Amino acid sequence: MPVLIQHAIDSEIPAGMKRLFVKSYGCQMNVYDGLRMAELMKPHGYALTDTYDGADLVVLNTCHIREKADEKVFSDIGRMKKVTADDAIIAVGGCTGQALGADIFKRAQQVQVVFGPQSMHRLPEFVERATRHHGLSRIVDTELPELQKFDALPTPGAYGPTAFVTIQEGCDKFCTYCVVPYTRGPELSRSAKDVVKEVQILAEQGVREVCLLGQNVNAYHGVNAAGKELTLAGLLKELAQINGIERLRFTTSHPNNMNDEMFNIFAEEEKVMPYFHLPVQSGSNKILAAMNRNHTVEEYLSHVERLRSVRPDIAMSGDFIVGFPGETEEDYLQTLSVIAEVGYGTAYGFAYSPRPGTPGAALSNQVEEAVKKERLAGMLAAIEACQENFNSTFVGKETTVLVEGPGDQDGLLKGRTPHNISCTIAVSGDAEAQTQLIGEIVRVKVTSQRKFSLHGEQL
Ligand code: SAH
Ligand code: SF4
Ligand code: F3S
Repeated sequence: MPVLIQHAIDSEIPAGMKRLFVKSYGCQMNVYDGLRMAELMKPHGYALTDTYDGADLVVLNTCHIREKADEKVFSDIGRMKKVTADDAIIAVGGCTGQALGADIFKRAQQVQVVFGPQSMHRLPEFVERATRHHGLSRIVDTELPELQKFDALPTPGAYGPTAFVTIQEGCDKFCTYCVVPYTRGPELSRSAKDVVKEVQILAEQGVREVCLLGQNVNAYHGVNAAGKELTLAGLLKELAQINGIERLRFTTSHPNNMNDEMFNIFAEEEKVMPYFHLPVQSGSNKILAAMNRNHTVEEYLSHVERLRSVRPDIAMSGDFIVGFPGETEEDYLQTLSVIAEVGYGTAYGFAYSPRPGTPGAALSNQVEEAVKKERLAGMLAAIEACQENFNSTFVGKETTVLVEGPGDQDGLLKGRTPHNISCTIAVSGDAEAQTQLIGEIVRVKVTSQRKFSLHGEQL
């Protein structure tokens, strides 16, 4: 379960309140939506629990990106049957809800409500209708109203020193493997005025680090309180002025939406952290063309070079797909070369999953499952090697960590470095002194590295 939603759990269910269980699958945008749905249901008498057990309302906030993500939802529903209250309402929201709509009822008869990511703000109404007509009517809402949800949602709560803020929804890029343009709708930005207000509210509640979310977040454009249209770089500058906000991050960016301002922001605004998630997907120009990415490997590498000239220590991150239709061994080896050449701080690798309704799924030259599996293993090993190598450059050096919570042993706290590496810190002082460090940025001497994280001592 994502940490953020865990912090939102009501430790005791107040008398008279019903139990709500929300499970978010997939990307951070779903984590954001999941929290908002929990907040939305509170005034309607639902407190958030951390288990299906005895839940009166279960919301599965689903992801449709790969076949496995869909399958997980249906297997969860199957298992859940035994543990939820007899008259529990099961609602399927998110991207699978949007993509499959009423077909979900055929595969999972106990589901009563299906809705998509852009109509989640109507959840109280769906639940009210489902309660009234218990078992007798089924509700489907897969409209894609434009950004309405943000106006309809309650003031966001903070659940620790870090927070996600969705600033853009949807995608117009139509990469040939991807369902997002169909499940989230067209690419639309929230106004800068609303985003600034939301971050101010979070900062007042103790948030120190904000991660701005969007499928192509660097294509963001929105009007601020003064009526000026801001790009992502302009928005970051405005957010950096907010009292209490110390760190800014954003994800995911697209190589075709880079501009001078976006490169320079890493030098101009010290609150913008030196970490950049910029997926390239493949190291082969032939495959990039088939994917409809509209950029070449060379263009991508020149972006990385320029970023490094502005911010030499920047941690690059990316996403990769192996086994897209037509991918040869040679294409795959080119992807491995790009991984090694960029020297990612972290990256995410996936085996291509043909998604119904996407152009990629209709191609005849699909790669065999066994080949995909083998290439994925090779790619994940290459990514792991990059990550270990990147992390090793911090050992023996000083860095800072925003403390997010206790570590897994007494005397340890954990958080992340500016380069977005998880770091445990040995701290002295009693339990209370340690708790007070949560939400603080502490100076740390890194003493060792584990596979995907660092360990250090507070200075
Ligand atoms: N908007 C972002 C990320 C979208 S989804 C971007 O453009 O980069 C996150 C990642 O899932 C993608 O970057 C891609 O690597 C992966 N992905 C998307 N569709 C996929 C599919 N059909 N099979 C395997 N991986 C996929
Ligand atoms: Fe999907 Fe491509 Fe849009 Fe990213 S840019 S969400 S990969 S269609
Ligand atoms: Fe999945 Fe939808 Fe996010 S398909 S990755 S939850 S946008």
